[in-house]
Amino acid sequence: MAYEVTSKLRERLKSLLATQPEEKALLQAFYTDPEIYQHDIERIHLRHWLCVGHKSEIPNPGDWFRFDVAGESLIIVHGTDGEVRALLNVCRHRGSLVCAEQAGHSNRLTCPYHGWTYDLEGRLRAARNMPGLDHAAHSLGTVHCRVVAGLIYVCFAEEAPDFALAEKVLTQSLGRFGWADAKVAHRASYSVDANWKLVTENYQECYHCRPSHPEFARFHATERPDEKTVDLREESSRQAAAQGIEIEEYDLWPMGDGEGGEGVSCANDAMYEGSVTGSRDGAPLAPLMGDFKDYCGGFFTYVETGPASFFLAYPDHGLVYLFMPRGPQRTDMEVLWLVDGKSEEGTDYSKEEVTWLWDITSLADKRIIEHNQQGVNSRYYVPGPYGPMERMTRMFSAWYKEQIRP
Ligand code: FES
Ligand SMILES: [Fe+2]
Repeated sequence: MAYEVTSKLRERLKSLLATQPEEKALLQAFYTDPEIYQHDIERIHLRHWLCVGHKSEIPNPGDWFRFDVAGESLIIVHGTDGEVRALLNVCRHRGSLVCAEQAGHSNRLTCPYHGWTYDLEGRLRAARNMPGLDHAAHSLGTVHCRVVAGLIYVCFAEEAPDFALAEKVLTQSLGRFGWADAKVAHRASYSVDANWKLVTENYQECYHCRPSHPEFARFHATERPDEKTVDLREESSRQAAAQGIEIEEYDLWPMGDGEGGEGVSCANDAMYEGSVTGSRDGAPLAPLMGDFKDYCGGFFTYVETGPASFFLAYPDHGLVYLFMPRGPQRTDMEVLWLVDGKSEEGTDYSKEEVTWLWDITSLADKRIIEHNQQGVNSRYYVPGPYGPMERMTRMFSAWYKEQIRP
């Protein structure tokens, strides 16, 4: 389906981009206008790679879960051949959802409406009372799908952005944290009444961490970009390198490599002395993951790919953030907590403790992002300047303007 920008929207975008002040927050219309929202989805979410979950959620052939994003519904299925595929959840008969449930296990996918039945690769296997029907011409559609470091990615575009560099960065970072063998300790959804860009922008900066996240700011050096924290970062990276874990940093998000490759960034960070992981008191939470033999004095890594997938890895647990636009002023934030795949809840970790920090932090983010949207909706809103700690947010705005240019 070719997407075409109407001439009215083209003129409107041109005039907005011409009046958008340089180096400042975006104009109100970019956060409120339903037509621009739809344009964002077409130009950004339907063209880039999006993480949809972790492979451990569908460990066995026949396992599947439904994932709705960008106004579409997908069935993410673990095939009998071991491959993970993304099937379009749109029946080839008269278009019903094939899977209405959120997850399941089956050898066949049967449409609830008239009973057309597909195999796990999306091939039509049975259609009642349809003499002469060409089954081969009525397979479910598919979109690009790949698994990297246990993370399942999809892309709706016919020609997906090159993912080779992103794959390399994910493997050399989250791969070392053992994410391919991790399991999901908990999954939660936070519905945020705000435009998706306010959510993404918030996750690009830690300028807000001290006033908004006292529990996080207490232990994570991210909230203070001064010399002392530079030393801490070097020391924790040195300790990681001493046990053979060298995670190279990349700064290619969101622009990509300039040759059509998907944007990716990777940065290592440190905890303040005396704390080693993202917990209530900075103390260990769960068995070490991947190649880690100890906590390296409090070493953690941020990774980001494409417009809607954000990751945070500590040596003993990890966080997956999926940002899903639902409307001009609504975004779902799906959060997955990962732990080592062999660990047992209750024996090796407490779910309540593992999820404590990033649950209260996500709730606080929901609150501040919603306040942001409410202020932006005011007729008195005027875009203000970005500060030095908002470098990534500024880069995101610049990228966004390029993506939506008519
Ligand atoms: S719409 Fe699916 S079987 Fe009719
Ligand atoms: Fe935050």
